[in-house]
Amino acid sequence: MRIGAVLVAAGSGVRAGAGEPKQFRPLLGRPVLVWSAALLARRVVPGGLVIVAAPEQFDRVAALAPQAVLAPGGQTRTQSVRAGLAALGAVNPDVVLIHDAARPGLTDAVIDRVLEALRLAPAAAPYAPGADSLRQIDAEGRLLACPPREGLVRVQTPQGFTYSAIVDAYAALAAEAEVTDDLEVAHHFGLAARLVPGAQSLQKLTLPEDFAMLEALLSPPAAIARIGAGFDAHRFGPGDHVVLCGVKIPHTAGLLGHSDADAPWHALTDALLGAVGAGDIGDHFPPTDPQWKGAPSRVFLAHARDLVQARGGQIVNVDLTIICEAPRVKPHRAALRQSTAEVLGLALDRVSVKATTTEEMGFTGRREGLAAMANVSVLAP
Ligand code: CTP
Ligand code: MG
Repeated sequence: MRIGAVLVAAGSGVRAGAGEPKQFRPLLGRPVLVWSAALLARRVVPGGLVIVAAPEQFDRVAALAPQAVLAPGGQTRTQSVRAGLAALGAVNPDVVLIHDAARPGLTDAVIDRVLEALRLAPAAAPYAPGADSLRQIDAEGRLLACPPREGLVRVQTPQGFTYSAIVDAYAALAAEAEVTDDLEVAHHFGLAARLVPGAQSLQKLTLPEDFAMLEALLSPPAAIARIGAGFDAHRFGPGDHVVLCGVKIPHTAGLLGHSDADAPWHALTDALLGAVGAGDIGDHFPPTDPQWKGAPSRVFLAHARDLVQARGGQIVNVDLTIICEAPRVKPHRAALRQSTAEVLGLALDRVSVKATTTEEMGFTGRREGLAAMANVSVLAP
């Protein structure tokens, strides 16, 4: 399906109040127009995104959306859409999405639903299901009628059409006729239409207070500071080296474990999982699963790192403590920090590796095994 799009942005935004037209005002720091232009640009064939704007704004629109073809707006939305459809003539797409620049909360899911509906009908549009009852009133606020709410919806954009069909529908519309949306033009012309669920975020910026409301709706969830803690211990056994933080350190014994028994990285993996409430290392890498036998702990740590990232998190710093009488960790500390920083993609000063003995007390003091503790700080929603 060759897709084209018309983004209408030629209005003067009278109801949104003083200042520049609403489509150029910033929403969460990004001009309103750019929000949906960027999404539509990714869907259309080359040259298939037309932005309809007032000619005196052409330079500005070209700077904001360099990939768009510009068309001059008319006195009304209806005329602006006509100009946009005409500008798409050279591209002649199979379907066209007609969208209000004043609806920046466009989503890929809504575009997908509209395009899907166009396989069933020559016209399609998203709707916002209404929670409130609908009442008809006059200019003084007097109640005139109580239409049944059943089956009534509020229509949004982008509205999609078979390109040739909507061009014909507009051609058949009286030159002076004014409509509020393109679905109405298609309906007058007798085109069958399918409506699909839209999105709350697609509400149109119309009144001054709409900006704050939409910013609240579109704001990413705020990140909070989280901490995670982890602990691990492994028993010494036969061998000539231990692996700590991915680094092989010669020793008179090895560490017993299902994987490479890298206690500090196991503790660190648990700490990262803990910081985002994602269970523990055993949940993700069951010791009963043969595929993790002898596995390098780098795999576990990288998995926890990716999981933090997938949840929108950012690791702030990590602090490791290794507890043993031997081997001596201090000569290797720089290497241990370095390899941990590399896996986590952190600057060296955000990674700390410390070592201590337990003064020959307890299991580490008796040199039965080695233990490690990890603390991490993560910024995540
Ligand atoms: N629009 C347009 N050309 C016009 C009028 C409107 O391209 N002559 C566009 C607007 O830029 C907006 C969309 O149509 O993206 C919906 O219109 P509306 O919300 O009414 O915007 P404005 O006309 O700019 O606002 P107002 O009616 O408050 O002046
Ligand atoms: Mg208007």
